[in-house]
Amino acid sequence: MRLQAASRATARWQPTQFLSILDLTPSDLEICLERAASMKAARQARRAHPMPLKGLHVALLFEKPSLRTRSTFQIAVRELGGDVIEPPPEVALGGRETIEDVARNLERWVFGAVIRTFAQDRLERFAASAPGLRVVNALTNEEHPCQALADCLTLIERFKTLEGKTIGFVGDGNNVAASLAQAVAMLGGHVIVASPSGFELAPSVVESVARVARFGGGLTVTNDPLEAVSAADAIYTDVWASMGQEDQAAERRRMFAPYQVNTGLLAKAPEGAIFMHCLPAHRGDEVSDDVMDSAASVVFDQSENRLHTQKALLALLAS
Ligand code: CP
Ligand code: NVA
Repeated sequence: MRLQAASRATARWQPTQFLSILDLTPSDLEICLERAASMKAARQARRAHPMPLKGLHVALLFEKPSLRTRSTFQIAVRELGGDVIEPPPEVALGGRETIEDVARNLERWVFGAVIRTFAQDRLERFAASAPGLRVVNALTNEEHPCQALADCLTLIERFKTLEGKTIGFVGDGNNVAASLAQAVAMLGGHVIVASPSGFELAPSVVESVARVARFGGGLTVTNDPLEAVSAADAIYTDVWASMGQEDQAAERRRMFAPYQVNTGLLAKAPEGAIFMHCLPAHRGDEVSDDVMDSAASVVFDQSENRLHTQKALLALLAS
């Protein structure tokens, strides 16, 4: 991947926190993805690289379960020379003392905080209370920007560029869809999100994508899964009930049944279309087993790229 000529001249990483894809300029996003690609190559070749977190700690504060995000941040911090602390949930975020006081304590000890929580507002309150901390969004109800970094790297590995590419997201207009649409549109891709009526992307997300889209990129929201896949270079789906929505799972399973990504739907996509999922997958719900396990599936590339993109992000936040 190469930085766009227009941004290369002035390219310099600026952000001190990563609460949202919208904290990045297009050139920040490109810098992060380029750094991730070079760190991935270095790791595969077992080449040594700088240790920008040497002597530093990062706090992992998770209010929801995680396999990929927690594990890849643990590895990323350690491979960059630092260490993690993992305060248990009962003391982490606002149970025992206010979110603001937790942030002010951690600010005295650690370099950064990686936070998985419910409303985005909880993350923003934490970050506002500790301006000295590098705060990273590890998933909120509204956004999952670390996932979008890995998704963009995976797409660029396959297609070289996102300009002129179409990503069809079939399912809930959720946190993963929101961050994906913002990042892909920033890089010049077009995202078509097909959801049942009442489960579309939030209007604020649609507006934000229109604001950041470049090079002909953009977003279409539809209720028709066929519209999302018929010109798609990549088809993406995610769980129908996100963490915290477990009590809606039965109703959502009924509403979303026509949106399952199965071989029938994949057959409507152009030849060579790839299949993406942030994982965990609920096989038999949003995706059939045969699609998950097909040659088109790049889901474990996405999972691997969580590590490389988060290493790049942390290194840049330390720069
Ligand atoms: N995709 C993702 O964020 O996975 P985890 O919930 O396991 O972290
Ligand atoms: N939308 C899902 C993503 C999990 C990685 C959730 O929020 O549970």
